[in-house]
Amino acid sequence: MEEQLKVLTEELHLSKECEEKLLQENKCEDKVQGKVIGIGRNQNRHDKGVNVQVSVEDKCINTDETWLRPDESKVDMIVHDILDDRDLDRNSFNVANDCDKEEGNERVYGGPVTRSRGPVPDCDWVVVPAEKKPDSLSYHSSLFSSGVLRTCSHKGQDIEFLADEIQVIGENNLENYPFKARTKSTPDYVRQFLHLRGRTNFSSLLRVRSQAKLAIHNYFTSEEFINIDTPILTSNDCEGAGEVFLVEALKSEEKNSQSSSDGMFFNHPIYLTVSGQLHLETMVSGLCKVYNFSPAFRAENSLSRRHLSEFWMVEAEEAFLKGSEGFECLTERVESLIKSTTQYLLDRQEEDIFYYWKQNQDTETLVRSSLEKDFGHLPYSEAIRILKANSDNFKTQPVDGENLGKEHELFLTKHMGNIPVFVTDWPKKIKAFYMCSKEEDPNLVYGLDLLFPNVGEVAGGGLREHDFFALQSRLREHKLTKSLDWYLDLRKFNGRVPSGGFGLGFERYLLFLLGIHNIKDVIPFPRWTKHCPC
Ligand code: 4AD
Ligand code: MG
Repeated sequence: MEEQLKVLTEELHLSKECEEKLLQENKCEDKVQGKVIGIGRNQNRHDKGVNVQVSVEDKCINTDETWLRPDESKVDMIVHDILDDRDLDRNSFNVANDCDKEEGNERVYGGPVTRSRGPVPDCDWVVVPAEKKPDSLSYHSSLFSSGVLRTCSHKGQDIEFLADEIQVIGENNLENYPFKARTKSTPDYVRQFLHLRGRTNFSSLLRVRSQAKLAIHNYFTSEEFINIDTPILTSNDCEGAGEVFLVEALKSEEKNSQSSSDGMFFNHPIYLTVSGQLHLETMVSGLCKVYNFSPAFRAENSLSRRHLSEFWMVEAEEAFLKGSEGFECLTERVESLIKSTTQYLLDRQEEDIFYYWKQNQDTETLVRSSLEKDFGHLPYSEAIRILKANSDNFKTQPVDGENLGKEHELFLTKHMGNIPVFVTDWPKKIKAFYMCSKEEDPNLVYGLDLLFPNVGEVAGGGLREHDFFALQSRLREHKLTKSLDWYLDLRKFNGRVPSGGFGLGFERYLLFLLGIHNIKDVIPFPRWTKHCPC
């Protein structure tokens, strides 16, 4: 077999050790030869092997899922950390048999390789020999490097890039720069510099967030939902809570003089959307399964660690959901979306997720048990009974017929065994006008709040009132008949269909997944009352 292969080291610029490892793994005795189609690291973080894929005619040996085509070895990277031999020891890297020590004067510069050309698989480190280190290389500078790959035995790193040439592209001016190498900054501190935050370990969050969006789109696509772009500018306050931002065109003096009688751009008040639900409902009778993934805006005057003025919501609406059976389908839908998203992320973004889990040990257990166990179900009346029986635990006492406080939500998830819990069958009078009454008790609605351990409410939804007269009377009660006549039309004409849906707060889900304390640290540019700096 070996004779039919070409020399690996030449083609891949592999170091001697790397080739030896390859020889060993492929039980070859002399030189490994062949056409190298790729080199990669096993996805499993516990497997430290370097995998090289070699083809012998049509056969592949030592295959792995992901491969990069070998070409030339070049990387662009942003320096995220700078470590020298002392740091390696301090961080208990295993440097036995490591070239850094043998060659003495090398230094290790770390950071994610942002773009690689050639065989640079999943390699976080660039090793820079001291004599090749440019003076301008510093923390968070950006660089271009060419060199060779070699195996290494650092903890969590199997392969590293030995620089032959280093060019600093963007020097970092460290005067007044808020971040320092080897200095851990608190999230509150880092958040003061939103425009520089992407250079820090916050990049882990951004990667998870990006993949989570993909996971959600994948889930809905595989379940044959159609993505609808619901509008940002709306004429209604879907939740009826009055927490809307009013949108107005900036008026110049000149425009003012020519403006319509009340000076409004749209002739009536327009708001930033609080939810795309009503617009999704307009599409459900045509498409049956629809969803959106959009920003939502709420002018809540809140400084809490769970509220943002601008956040992202995933909303779904599904036709033919009716009565208890339809409501059960709805809770199953929410649960399967969340489980599938979490599993997708654990399969692909494990290292970034672990970065957060390491800082908060309970999170892994909570997240894994949310995947393995069924979510809990509690009717509102039962939730109130449990809370009243445990009233000593609360600063504010639960009141039957009123909303639950954050402390009550957190208590319920703990009480149910630290799992996500659906609170269902809510009193009609505390839920939005569109909620569908239960047949058995019209004072209750088919509504749900999904509560998560440590976070509280993460999703809200329910079946929609599909009866024309019942909805008309609720709109009258809420004085909404004029602004929502189009919504009532949906229950009037042919093709009307009962439906149900929900909205999942994307940032609140990330809070749970990563065990992050403050919602402002799971969105790139958080906005909250009196805070919109850039
Ligand atoms: O419970 P909410 O208000 O439900 C609705 O808006 C429905 N119209 C959704 C639907 O049925 N299509 O909001 C849904 C979720 C909440 O459970 C919460 O996770 C999140 O949106 N949310 C917020 N997240 C961050 N900051 C805020 N200020 C939030 N307000 C709600
Ligand atoms: Mg809610």
